Amino acid sequence: MKILIIGSGGREHALAWKCAHDISVEHIFVCPGNAGTHLEDKISNVEINASDFGAIENFCISKEISLVIIGPEQPLVDGLTNYLQSKGIDTFGPSKEAAQLEGSKTFSKDFFVKYHIPTAEYKSFDGFDDALNYLDEINYPTVVKADGLAAGKGVIICENKNEAIEALQSIFKDNAFGSAGNKVVIEEFLEGEEASFIAVVSKDKIIPLVTSQDHKAVGDGDVGLNTGGMGAYSPAPVVTDEINRKILDEVMYPTMHGLIQENSPYLGFLYAGLMIKDNEIKVLEFNCRFGDPETQPILLRLKSSLVELCKAAINDNLDSYNIEWTEEHSCGVVIASKGYPENYESGKEVSIDQNKSENSKLFHAGTKFENNKIFTNGGRVFCATALGKDLKEAQQNAYNLLDKVHFEGAFYRTDIGYKGIK
Ligand code: AMP
Ligand code: GLY
Repeated sequence: MKILIIGSGGREHALAWKCAHDISVEHIFVCPGNAGTHLEDKISNVEINASDFGAIENFCISKEISLVIIGPEQPLVDGLTNYLQSKGIDTFGPSKEAAQLEGSKTFSKDFFVKYHIPTAEYKSFDGFDDALNYLDEINYPTVVKADGLAAGKGVIICENKNEAIEALQSIFKDNAFGSAGNKVVIEEFLEGEEASFIAVVSKDKIIPLVTSQDHKAVGDGDVGLNTGGMGAYSPAPVVTDEINRKILDEVMYPTMHGLIQENSPYLGFLYAGLMIKDNEIKVLEFNCRFGDPETQPILLRLKSSLVELCKAAINDNLDSYNIEWTEEHSCGVVIASKGYPENYESGKEVSIDQNKSENSKLFHAGTKFENNKIFTNGGRVFCATALGKDLKEAQQNAYNLLDKVHFEGAFYRTDIGYKGIK
């Protein structure tokens, strides 16, 4: 069979790499992909604009694609799954209606309240003046969130009222997030430890993936600006068996059933970003896709077939799929371009020392291949990902792999996994 994967990040390199392990898979196309997907056996890149649904459909027909996997949120929120499925092309990813869980914070917060899913107190506003008045009624710190998709940058933690006023001004007056900022959610600041809980959902069935924890802040010790994620590890000890049960009972099942009640049954990866404190969980956000960089360490641990998992979900047959994991731990460390997550450099030539290894994998993200060379082409450039018998060994193996990658201005956090080791 042939597969098309939409996206260009580290997540998509990992998805394609994992699918390529299946002997049933003849070829994988990644649209648009990166240098890493270009260089893999059985995988090639294809340049089609993901917002040109007709062009993607034509490509699927001409190449006889029998599975499309959509990586990023934008094409999901735009309805690429609805379109391809209406043309009879098997597509793994939620409909645009279900993807509103990520596409609109107001939608998701209202949904949590309606279906009694624990979350921070909040109010939603579509104008500056009402939002400003509300700032007198709340405690600080507080959290101001642009309603729509903002590439992970739409959340502003405000220590005091002045910072909250600035945040509202940047969103409503300066249009910092474009139409994603037509509404804002102002929400209670939560303390605790974060975890990512990711599952494959198909209507009323769910297969939870192994647990993981991301590192959102740019600097060691979780300081500095928020990023898309500077590294992740799996499993995450903060998600004990009891917490795992609670997440399923209080968050995942109610969400799945709520979506069925809303006539938008879910299909795809469903990602809950959670805050955990004193055995209590609250949902920070939902993502309608696999996490990046969580995908990279999680897929390194997956022993069973990702292709069969996606097919079983599409065919409403998840009960028949037996998911298997290695007991080993994994750790992925992101190597970023100087300046990220603000303005960053691009176009730097990359050199990589020999890095073939059984228990590690260098996933590309913002890279491109030109004139037989690899160049940087994004904020997050690689994710060095490795297994180990425990987290400490996985971390060591990931950093050993990272040492083999060189480009001007490369930087990374030196403490990925520290909460799981302490
Ligand atoms: P989100 O995109 O909503 O997950 O927010 C991005 C990051 O902002 C989260 O991973 C948290 O680190 C932080 N964050 C979001 N909402 C809250 C909150 N209510 N309290 C504390 N931190 C938050
Ligand atoms: N790592 C967080 C995300 O994928 O949104």
